[in-house]
Amino acid sequence: MKVCIYGAGSIGCYLGGRLAAVGVDVDFIVRPSVKQQLQHHGLTVSDYLGRRQTISVDALQLYDSADVANQADIIFVCVKSAATQQVAAELNMILKKRTIIISFQNGLSNVGVLKQFLDGHTVLEGMVPFNVAALGNGVFHQGTEGTLSVKKNDGLTELIQAFQQAHLAIKLEQDMQAIQWAKLLLNLNNSINALSQLPLKQQLSIREYRQCLAIAQLEALNLLKIAKIKPAQLTTIPARFIPNILKLPNPIFNLVSRKMLEIDPYARSSMADDLLSGKKTEIDWINGEVVKLAEQLSLKAPINQKLIELIEQAESTIQSKAWSGVELKSELMSL
Ligand SMILES: NC(=O)c1ccc[n+]([C@@H]2O[C@H](COP(=O)([O-])OP(=O)(O)OC[C@H]3O[C@@H](n4cnc5c(N)ncnc54)[C@H](OP(=O)(O)O)[C@@H]3O)[C@@H](O)[C@H]2O)c1
Repeated sequence: MKVCIYGAGSIGCYLGGRLAAVGVDVDFIVRPSVKQQLQHHGLTVSDYLGRRQTISVDALQLYDSADVANQADIIFVCVKSAATQQVAAELNMILKKRTIIISFQNGLSNVGVLKQFLDGHTVLEGMVPFNVAALGNGVFHQGTEGTLSVKKNDGLTELIQAFQQAHLAIKLEQDMQAIQWAKLLLNLNNSINALSQLPLKQQLSIREYRQCLAIAQLEALNLLKIAKIKPAQLTTIPARFIPNILKLPNPIFNLVSRKMLEIDPYARSSMADDLLSGKKTEIDWINGEVVKLAEQLSLKAPINQKLIELIEQAESTIQSKAWSGVELKSELMSL
C-alpha cells in the first residue's frame, strides 16, 4: 500500500509521520518551506502521552510536484479548505488509476468539491478530532486526545491495520455527516480562540470566552434540530449538553471538564496560527457552514455571522485586536 499525503503541513506530516514510523510507504507532497525543515531535521511526531518518533531524512519521501500522487493507492488530502478546489483539479489531471482519496480536513464541503472533480475515484470523509501543532524543526505534536474517523469503505482494511500498528485510534463510520457536524460545533471555538490571541487552555479557562462559544453552539444546534441533523457524540458529553457545561462558573467548569482542559499549554487553534501567519483562515468552512444552513432554512445565524465578520476584519489587518472575553461576549450578546 502506498499512501500519499497531499499538503504535508501539521495534519499531513503528523498522520503521514505516524504511518511512516511503522514502515508504511508514504510520499509527502510538501511546500519548499516544510521540505527544507524536514530535509534538515527529519520528521518527528510526538504526542501528549509522551510518545516521540523520528523518521530520518534518508527515510523520508518528499516531493515538490503533485505528479507523485499518481502512484498512490490512498491519498490523504490535508490542505486547508481554501486550497481544496485547486488540489481536486490537479488530481483530476494526474490520477490515471482508481484511487481512494480521504479528506482529513475540517468543515463539511471539501468532499463535495473533491467528488465534483474526481468522478470514478473513491472520495471519503475523514475527521481528525485532535489538535496538531507544528513546533518547528520538523516536529509535529498531537496536543489532545481523540479517535480518527473515516467513512466506512471496504478498500481501507490495510490502512486501518497500519493505523492500529501505529497506535493511532481510528474508527470507520457510516454517518460522517453527524461526525462532521459534531466536530464543527467544537470548531466554533477556533474563531473565538483566534480572536482571543491566547493559547487554547488559557482561553477555555475564562468563562466569558466559553459563554461566547456556548451561544455560537446553541445557534448552530437550534438550526441542526430544525434541519433534523443529529450531531454525533465525540466527547463524554453529548453535543446538545456542551453549551450548558461551557456556561458554568470557572471552579465548577474546571471540576466537571477536566478532560476538556487536558490540552498542552501551548496549543492554539489552527485558525489562530493562520491569522498570525497572515493566511486566509477556514472561517467560511466552519462558521460559514452554520450561516449556510440557516440560509437553507430561510433563517439567520447572527452570532456565527458576527464571528465571521470579526475574523475577516482580523484577516485584513496587520496587527489585529486581541479581544478580551468580556469584550467579545458583549459584542455577541448585543446582537
Ligand atoms: N492543525 C490541526 O490541529 C487540525 C486539527 C484537525 C483538523 N485540521 C484540519 O486539517 C486541514 C489541514 O490543516 P493543517 O493545520 O494541517 O494545515 P497546514 O499546516 O496549513 O498544512 C497544509 C499544507 O498544505 C500546503 N498546501 C496547500 N496547497 C498545496 C498544494 N496545492 N500543493 C502542495 N501543498 C499545498 C500548505 O502550504 P501553504 O501554507 O504554503 O499553502 C501547508 O503546508 C484543515 O482543514 C484543518 O482545519 C487541523
